[in-house]
Formats: sequence, C-alpha cells, structure tokens
Amino acid sequence: MKKLILSLTFLLAARLVFAVEGMWLPLLLGLLNETEMKSLGMKMTAEDIYSVNKGSLKDAIVQFGGGCTAEVISDKGLLLTNHHCGFGQIQSHSTLEHNYLEDGFWAKTLKDELPNPGLTAMFISRIEDVTAAALAGVTDDMDKKTRQSTIDKNLDAIKKSAKMEAWEEAMVRPFFAGNQYFMFITVTYKDVRLVGTPPSSIGKFGADTDNWVWPRHTGDFSMFRIYADKNNRPAEYSTDNVPLKPKHFLPISLDGVAEGDFTLVFGFPGRTSEYLPSYAISQIADVLDPARIMVRDKTLAIWDGGMRADAQVKIQYASKQASLANAWKKWKGEVLGLRKTKAVKKKQQYEAEFMKLVTINPKFSKYQGLLKEFEQLYRDITPYAEAKAYFDEILGSNVEIFRAASRFNGITKAHEKNGEAGYIEEKQKVRDGLAAFYKDYRPEMDQRVFAAQMEVLVKKLGKDFQSEMLATMLANAGGSYEKLAENVFSNSFLTNQAAANAVLEKPMFDGIRGIVTDPGCQLLNSLRDVYNAKITPKYNEYNDRIEVLQATYMRAQMEVFPNKKFYPDANSTMRISYGQVQGYQPQDAVAYSPQTYLEGVMEKYVPGDYEFDVPARLRELYDKKDYGQYGENGKLPVCFLGSNHTTGGNSGSPAIDAHGNLIGLNFDRVWEGTMSDYNYDVSICRNIMVDARYVLFIVDKYAGATRLIQEMKLVHPKKDGPSAPKKEKQPKSIREKKQGSLKAPVKVEDY
Ligand code: ARG
Ligand code: GLU
Repeated sequence: MKKLILSLTFLLAARLVFAVEGMWLPLLLGLLNETEMKSLGMKMTAEDIYSVNKGSLKDAIVQFGGGCTAEVISDKGLLLTNHHCGFGQIQSHSTLEHNYLEDGFWAKTLKDELPNPGLTAMFISRIEDVTAAALAGVTDDMDKKTRQSTIDKNLDAIKKSAKMEAWEEAMVRPFFAGNQYFMFITVTYKDVRLVGTPPSSIGKFGADTDNWVWPRHTGDFSMFRIYADKNNRPAEYSTDNVPLKPKHFLPISLDGVAEGDFTLVFGFPGRTSEYLPSYAISQIADVLDPARIMVRDKTLAIWDGGMRADAQVKIQYASKQASLANAWKKWKGEVLGLRKTKAVKKKQQYEAEFMKLVTINPKFSKYQGLLKEFEQLYRDITPYAEAKAYFDEILGSNVEIFRAASRFNGITKAHEKNGEAGYIEEKQKVRDGLAAFYKDYRPEMDQRVFAAQMEVLVKKLGKDFQSEMLATMLANAGGSYEKLAENVFSNSFLTNQAAANAVLEKPMFDGIRGIVTDPGCQLLNSLRDVYNAKITPKYNEYNDRIEVLQATYMRAQMEVFPNKKFYPDANSTMRISYGQVQGYQPQDAVAYSPQTYLEGVMEKYVPGDYEFDVPARLRELYDKKDYGQYGENGKLPVCFLGSNHTTGGNSGSPAIDAHGNLIGLNFDRVWEGTMSDYNYDVSICRNIMVDARYVLFIVDKYAGATRLIQEMKLVHPKKDGPSAPKKEKQPKSIREKKQGSLKAPVKVEDY
C-alpha cells in the first residue's frame, strides 16, 4: 500500500515536472531534448523527427501562406491546416450564391480544386548553425551600425556560398537576440489549391465567444493541396501541374488520446519574448495592451452590429472582423494571465537572483548597471510607445478610410519624388488595389468607427501629440464627433469606388488637386505628420537602445545562469514543442478535463445563432450516434488540450503522437494562458487542438468526401501495438474485414 502511495505521489509530481516549456530547433533535439522527450513517452528518435539524410517528420510540415502551418497527409500533397488559416481563401471564393463560408465546400475531383493566387507552402530542406560565419569579425566594442553592416555582409556571403538546388532558397535568421544565427534552406510551392472546408458553423463554431476559450468545440480545419510541375518542383499555377509527391506525409491515428499521452507540435511559431525585463512586462500589461483593447472594443462593437444585421456585410467583414477580434481577445487574456501568475513579480525575483550572481562575480561586473538602464529606458519610452500604439491601431487597422487615403497620398508622394513617371506608376498600383478594397467596404459603418476613434485620439493623447487639423475640423463640427465624421465622409471621394476611380481618370494635375484637397487624405497627412515628427523619432531612439541592451541581457542571462536550458524566442522559423495531453485548473475549485465531445457542441447549440448554430446534418448524425470508426465508447471526440508551448503561427500545426502519427491539429491556446508569449507558466498554459478523429468524421461522415479519406493513411498505433515492426501490407480481404461495417473503403493499415 505504502509503495502504491509512493509511486502515485511520484507519478503526480512527475506529471507536474514533465510539462515542458519551450520551442526548440529541430536540428538540436538530439543534443538538448531527446532524453526528456523519451521520458515523456516518445518512442521516436530525434532523427525520425529531423533528418537531412532520409525522409523525416519535418518533410511533412510547411509554412502555409507565410503565417500559419500546415502538414502533408497523403502521398498526393494533400494539406491539412486550420479553417481560420484558409479563411481568406475561402472567403475570396465565396459569393451569396456560392457561399462556402456558410455551406462549406468539397471539391469532387482534382479538377474542382480551386487555385489561390499568392498562396504558398514552404518546406524546409535543412537547417545549419552558421553563427561563427555570421559573427566573423564582429567585436564587442563595435557600435550598432558597424556591427550590423559587418553581419549583413557575412550573411550575404553565407547565403551566396550555400549549397542548394536551383529551386531552393536560403534564409538566415538571428536567434537569442542576435547571439546565434541559423540558415534555413527552403523550397516554396506556389500552386496551392483549396480542396475542402466545413461550413463556418463547424470550422468556426463558437466564433468570438469561444475563441481562446476552453472548453472548446470548433472543427477548425480546412484542406488544400500542393501542386508541382511534372518534375515535382515548385511552379506557378498551371493546369499542367500535378499533385506533389512529398518526401514524407503523416499517417493519421484513429486511436485518439488519453490524459498523459506524449504530444509534439511541429510548426512555425511567429513571435515570443520570454527574456524581457520586468519593466517591459509591466508596460505591456498596464499600458500597451489596455490601449489597443480599448480602440478595438469600439470598432468591434460597430462592426458586429452591422454584421448581425446584414448577410452581405457579414461576408464582407468576416475576415477583417476575425483578425481584429482575435488579437483583441488575446490581449485581454494576456493581461489577465500576466496578473494572475504575478508575472512582473516573478521577473523581479529572477532579476534579483541575476543581480546577486552578477554582484558576487567580478567577471560579470559589466552587467551591473544593465537592469537600471532598462528601468530608465522603459520609463522614457512609455509615453511614446503608448501614443504609437494608438496611432498604429487607429490609422493602421481600425479606420478603413485611412487605408484608402494612404494609397492616394502615395500617388502624390510618388509625384513629388519622380514627377510624372512616378505618378503614373503609383496610380496604376492604386487602381489595381482599389477593387479589392471597395469589394469589402461599407462607408456607413466606417463613418461610425471614424467618429469613435477620432474621439479616442483627441481624448487619450497628450497635447504634444495632437493634430491641429483634427482640432480645427472638430471645432468646425461644433465639437461633435458624429458631425465631424459626417463632414469628412460626405465630402471625401474615398467613400466610394466610382468617385475614387474618377480621380484616377482625371488629367494628372486635376487628379493631384483632387487628392490634396480631399478631407480624408488631408487629415491622414496631418496625423502622419504628428506621428513622424513627434512620436517615431523618440520612440525609435529609445527602442534602438532597448534592442541593443536586450541583446546584452540575453547573453548575460545565458552566462550568469549556465545550467538553465534556454530556448530561442519564436521568430517564424521551424520549431518543435512537446508536452502531454493535460487538463488544468484555472481557478479555485475549477478543473478542466482535456477532451471535449460532440455532446458539448449540442449543449452550446442555439438554433439560427450567429456563432452557435449547428448544421442539420451534424445534428442528425449526433441523434443517430452515427460516428463510424471515429467514435470512442459511443461518443465523438472534438477537441483536446496539451501542455505544448505554442503561439500565433502554430495555427494548423500537427499534433503528433509518440510514434509520429497525426492525432490532432493545433489551433488555439486557453484564455488564461495567452501570456505564454512573455511568461510561460505550466500551471495554466495549454494549447488547444482539434481531434484528428473529428476532422476525419467531418470529411467522411458529414461531407461524404470519401475520396480524400481514401488517399490518407489511417493507423491504429495503440490497438496494434506501437512497437510492432512494420508489416507488409495485409492482403486486401483482411484489411476490408477489419473495417467492419464501414461503407467507405477506408485504408486501415498496421502501424
Ligand atoms: N485564436 C486562434 C488564433 O489565434 C483562432 C483564431 C480564429 N479567429 C476567430 N476570430 N475565431 O489564431
Ligand atoms: N490561432 C493561433 C494562430 O493563428 C494559434 C493560437 C496561438 O496563438 O497559440 O496561429
């Protein structure tokens, strides 16, 4: 009995210790992580995950569209990624008649798969540590500029001498704030077609209310396919292209997950900052996040109202709204999480420890003043950083008319710089972009956003950061922001496409006059002048110094804590996170289990609702409990949680089991843990994945897209024994028997 209790305590303790922080470089796994990964239950070797000599897991992973991750799941280049990663493409193929957002889409044959100009899929051929060559000739006493130009020259030489094929490219990125450099040899495919997507009522189920939240019930997936030329190489879109033959693709496990199972997430995390000083964390939690949240609160309230009232607006604003709402909600969770985990205090304790070690060791005397210097710099930069946050938000992503104004102002600038030639060239560019802008533009909504945000600029910014023109326009409107907006919107050509086009059709000087006298263009120019004269010079000056200091601080942390295992901050390069399937306890007396089921979808179901409607076909399958081989004890798994350290960019990343099979698709983190970008805390940081069985169920049973299931490789690693040696394919008759009553001729192979 005593033994049992002991081993139970051990198990429990081990569970806590085992959840692992970090986003690791695939080529260093053998050195840094393999032992720990195996102790967590991994049955593969580091070489199975990343190898330059044979096909390995990394050959099934792509950066999708520059900002997401996707994985190859068949020998015909079939790609799995999130619904929200394919959202822009799905929207662009949607009309009121063929509304793929609303109804989903499944290409019946290869020929029906839809091309997406500009969409790319990038593989990594290999990764090399090039630190020595990158830093050759760099000395400690160099100033920032000389240092950077020396490094730039080195990087050029490294890329030029890199061994690669004609269709490959080389990129070199700094790690640990420029203390290390790695080169990535990449292959980018440019013909990536939409194969299928569930309706938003599945792919975006729960929309903004559920976004960043557990328990979750979203089938956040879509499918694409990579096409290559007849030599299997990247090519621009062509009807002659054929499906890619990948070096590796992920088999998909039908056996599901249990709490404590090993998980690995492979992908392209975008950006984290885990090694900042406490002053930076307070600035984020107390100043920057609250400013951005407040601006978006206003825009989103207006957009949401418009989208609920009008189906056309709902399509037009779907993508814009999703991206604005996504970061908005993340920041809210981030602030909460930073406070809840006392992140600033934790950093302060870490800094106290750092200073203690620095003070007793003369070797580190050069780091004595480092934190004090940070304190001063963050104090100095904060008013500029706050003003910049307001301007960036309002001018850059909330008030849409400024985006159009910015393009037209670009024409007059080009004219000032290059005369008529500049004018003509820039005008052509603007003309090309205009249709896309107006296709999804509603001036009546933007006018209300404009009114709200001009009030923010006037009320939230100090005297030094005010635009005189805005003040005058406001006075002319009798101090009313609504009247101000009405004045601008009824007098600006920017509010409608025909008027904007007419300006472009005028003779050059009339066109320029039209632009410089437009109230929207004028106001933007005046705001930009404030920004460029009063905010960015100081901001950049302090920020440059912070960056230099951060590089020193990074090196200092690695020297002062030589036994701490450091992982580089995310920088959109290929990484691996690993952990386990695990629930969490966000509050006293609240415990979340790690798996959700279709029951939960039905609990949330609100007929006809904007976020929580459930399609009839899915309700029918639920009523009949018709889950085929994808159910588990009469229930259908939907999403699950893990302790893998992930961030934006990991969307669409595969969740992989101990043997290298796909078990799920990463798409989110829990609300309480979004501060993991600054301060991963194993107690409440969890990533959210859609269960591979739910994906297969939707493709197969819901959509009937069995041609796709047939090209996948479905496996039973748990049932058939993980370590069973790879067997020859079974004769067809046996395979079919194993599938039992399944209608679709699914290929189920032994692991
Ligand atoms: N939160 C996830 C991510 O950061 C999913 C976003 C999907 N968008 C949405 N508004 N529901 O990207
Ligand atoms: N949804 C995020 C993305 O687009 C992933 C979730 C996260 O930020 O962790 O990459």
